[in-house]
Amino acid sequence: MEHNAHQAQKDKIMEHNVQPSQASTSRRSFLRRGLAVGGAGAIGAGLFGAGSLYTNFAQAQTASPTVTKGDVAILSFLAAIEIIESDLWQQYNELGGIQDSEVPGGSGSAAYIKALQVLDGDMSQYIHDNTEDEISHFTFLNAYLASKGADPVNLERFRTLPSSQATGAQHIGRLTNLMQLTVDTSWWTRYRSRTKNPDFGDTFPQAIPGLSKGQFPAIPRHDGDLSPKDHLQAIANTAGFHFGYIEQGGSSLYPSLAQGVTNPEVLRILLSIGPTETAHFQTWHDKAGNAPALTDPTNGLVFPDLNASGGEDTQTNLIMPEPTVFLSRKFPVVSIIRPTEIAGSGGAVATVKSFTADGLFIGQSPEFFALLNELAKQADEARRG
Ligand SMILES: [Fe+2]
Repeated sequence: MEHNAHQAQKDKIMEHNVQPSQASTSRRSFLRRGLAVGGAGAIGAGLFGAGSLYTNFAQAQTASPTVTKGDVAILSFLAAIEIIESDLWQQYNELGGIQDSEVPGGSGSAAYIKALQVLDGDMSQYIHDNTEDEISHFTFLNAYLASKGADPVNLERFRTLPSSQATGAQHIGRLTNLMQLTVDTSWWTRYRSRTKNPDFGDTFPQAIPGLSKGQFPAIPRHDGDLSPKDHLQAIANTAGFHFGYIEQGGSSLYPSLAQGVTNPEVLRILLSIGPTETAHFQTWHDKAGNAPALTDPTNGLVFPDLNASGGEDTQTNLIMPEPTVFLSRKFPVVSIIRPTEIAGSGGAVATVKSFTADGLFIGQSPEFFALLNELAKQADEARRG
């Protein structure tokens, strides 16, 4: 760009930045923020004080802002989801992971671990680490809630579902059911699409159509599930795709809810935990692509060869999010987490709906659903104050 044209462009940007309507909008939003975070003192200073807008803004920044009711709703729902995730990952770890002081409980199932290792030799380590991460998430969120005078989330009374009877599992009450899953594998094609986005209402085909119909175990239900070989491999394959399903959910949930957060520290919590869900998702996305093509001889569940079509929609090594449309189709495509619309299909209510359709809560009480749905509703209603 020539100098003169460049200067003209700069002038235009400057002009745009000082347009009165915009300036008054930011002042209005500053005052609104002052109301929420600084109380009467901040409002007084903002309206009548001698300091400039910038001085007052700096004061508002250094004051310790309130954690709002909406923030507590978001943190509480996330704590509940992390407790649920910990419960399901604990079941995977007892049979397929590493049982140690970091993630105690269970003694492992050698045959199940061998089938999981077809997807990757390090599956047990990854299962262990994912489990430990989820436990740390809910423990931190509950401790933070308590530090702000809010009630930590406790789902202990809902640990009523049965454990697997397979050798290696503990016999304790569970919150979640991994033995009757209907796994939605549309996340696979959603992250490969270059033209669609669920926030635009778009839908996506299943990678493993058989898993989205019927009910399938993702852990051996009893030692009878350890054979025949292709049956046990189908269980391990189901787990492989279920891992990706769970963690893509967390990858959308955190950025969706972050948009409703008011307090900067709470926002920091969401922005710091959320991407670890995506780190998990990225790992599982890669491993699921190694699930061997087979048909379960006991129930006909088919895992197709995802590379057979030659199309990008199922190609197994396309594990990084393909660029797609975002915000408006007028913008160039961009590689993003999807969906992220606030209170949209990646939000709290949608997450509960999706986990329910997944079969995770089969056998849970009406009280459990009532509590979870109420927490979800309040989290989705939170807005930045
Ligand atoms: Fe988590």
